[in-house]
Amino acid sequence: MSVPVNGENRRVRAGLLGLGTVGSGFIKALAQNGESIRQRTGCEIEIPYILVRNPSKERNVKVKPEQITTDPGVILSSTDIPVVIEVMGGIEPARTIILSALRAGKHVITANKELLAKHGPELLRAAEESGVQLLFEASVAGGIPVIRFLQGYLTANRVHEVSGILNGTTNYILTQMEQTGQSFAEVLAKAQELGYAEADPTSDVEGFDAAYKLAILTNLAYDVQVSPYEIPREGITSIQPLDLKWAREFGYVIKLIGRSRRTEAGIDVSVGPVLLPMSHPLARVNDVFNAVTISGDVVGDLTFIGKGAGEYPTASAVLEDLTALLRQPGQVLRSPNWETPVYPDVNQEAVRPFFVRFKAIVDTFAHAEHQFRLFITRSGGRIVRETGMASAKEAVGGYVVTGLEKSVLQAFLTGGMLEKLLHEPPLLIPCAEDETIDCQDAAFAAEPGLYAKSVEFMSQSV
Ligand SMILES: NC(=O)c1ccc[n+]([C@@H]2O[C@H](COP(=O)([O-])OP(=O)(O)OC[C@H]3O[C@@H](n4cnc5c(N)ncnc54)[C@H](OP(=O)(O)O)[C@@H]3O)[C@@H](O)[C@H]2O)c1
Repeated sequence: MSVPVNGENRRVRAGLLGLGTVGSGFIKALAQNGESIRQRTGCEIEIPYILVRNPSKERNVKVKPEQITTDPGVILSSTDIPVVIEVMGGIEPARTIILSALRAGKHVITANKELLAKHGPELLRAAEESGVQLLFEASVAGGIPVIRFLQGYLTANRVHEVSGILNGTTNYILTQMEQTGQSFAEVLAKAQELGYAEADPTSDVEGFDAAYKLAILTNLAYDVQVSPYEIPREGITSIQPLDLKWAREFGYVIKLIGRSRRTEAGIDVSVGPVLLPMSHPLARVNDVFNAVTISGDVVGDLTFIGKGAGEYPTASAVLEDLTALLRQPGQVLRSPNWETPVYPDVNQEAVRPFFVRFKAIVDTFAHAEHQFRLFITRSGGRIVRETGMASAKEAVGGYVVTGLEKSVLQAFLTGGMLEKLLHEPPLLIPCAEDETIDCQDAAFAAEPGLYAKSVEFMSQSV
């Protein structure tokens, strides 16, 4: 259904839900580019109502008092408002308001990744039943047009993998920890000061935000329905500056990666830290930038990089959805089909290199390390990179191990005797496939210790 336009000046009225970071950015960007949008779409956009929670709050954008409302009913019941833009966030009341808008025959544009990841199929069904569109470019990777690419362009390709840096906050934290050597807590505090992290950073640092975005990308890429609750997820809170330093010495960088891949058994999907070789296209994507690589069977790999959050990049995605609606009457994008539930292929046990770090008091470290080496050799694995350091009190070792499945390594590291010897829980992070590992592996086998770095003894605690 096309968007009805009013009058000779072809005015289109849209209701805005939310005037926070994204909503304010939208109003500013519309004021800035309203004229060029009018020339390109032939329509003038008017925002008669803006829903907020607190009408007396001071705003950093100029709007008329009569635009502000706390009653979603004024937008939902207006027959001359054919488009609703939801940038308020959260599940309720956003879900109920969007469903009501769709059922009232209004097109909806939303930036709400959590809502889409958790209730996307219900919302898409309501849109289809009413013959209207639900557009959500801003829900994943801010200004990067990755949704449009998957939904509007890639129709003839079969996508076999989607991976990316989907969360700017964690990318900023990891980049800064590596560059400054500061701890996770110190960099998080700085990120909060700069407005890159929320007061409650859980959703970002524990990987929930990336899992919501990955669920949306996965559903679009493979026409399935993956629940964000089912996605195996790890955050970055256990990563220390030492891990980033050692990863770099080994030729890697640590990034929080969301990845989904078609397998014979279904979809292999996960969010967590990964060591990427420096040659990887995502390895040099730093600070708050996001990047998404989509692999299609005909087109090959395509990587998009850009700002994944913030008022303007996100407002850009919202505005582009709106102008697409105005420019193209009828169907803007392929209808997503999120009706086939799939369960992540959690049994997919790839044998790949893993980075392992463990710490113990000096007296027990040598014993713990001996047990670790024995276990690796007896299980058929190999240590292909290693380093370490020690103070008078404690010692810590970092290793890259090949030839073992994650579950095998994990069972050894967190169970049984080793755990009793360790000072804090060990760290285990997968490495992305790295062709250089194999040849160095062979060299290591020929000359054990070739890649072993001597342990540096430090005067201060590690
Ligand atoms: N911020 C980003 O960079 C970014 C990037 C991509 C996607 N997103 C998504 O965009 C959405 C908005 O994010 P944001 O950062 O702009 O949020 P925000 O700054 O917290 O703003 C939320 C706005 O919605 C209003 N609101 C919230 N709950 C409401 C309710 N129950 N009734 C009426 N109004 C309500 C708030 O009103 P008051 O102002 O009166 O409190 C506020 O104006 C979220 O879904 C988020 O995940 C954000």
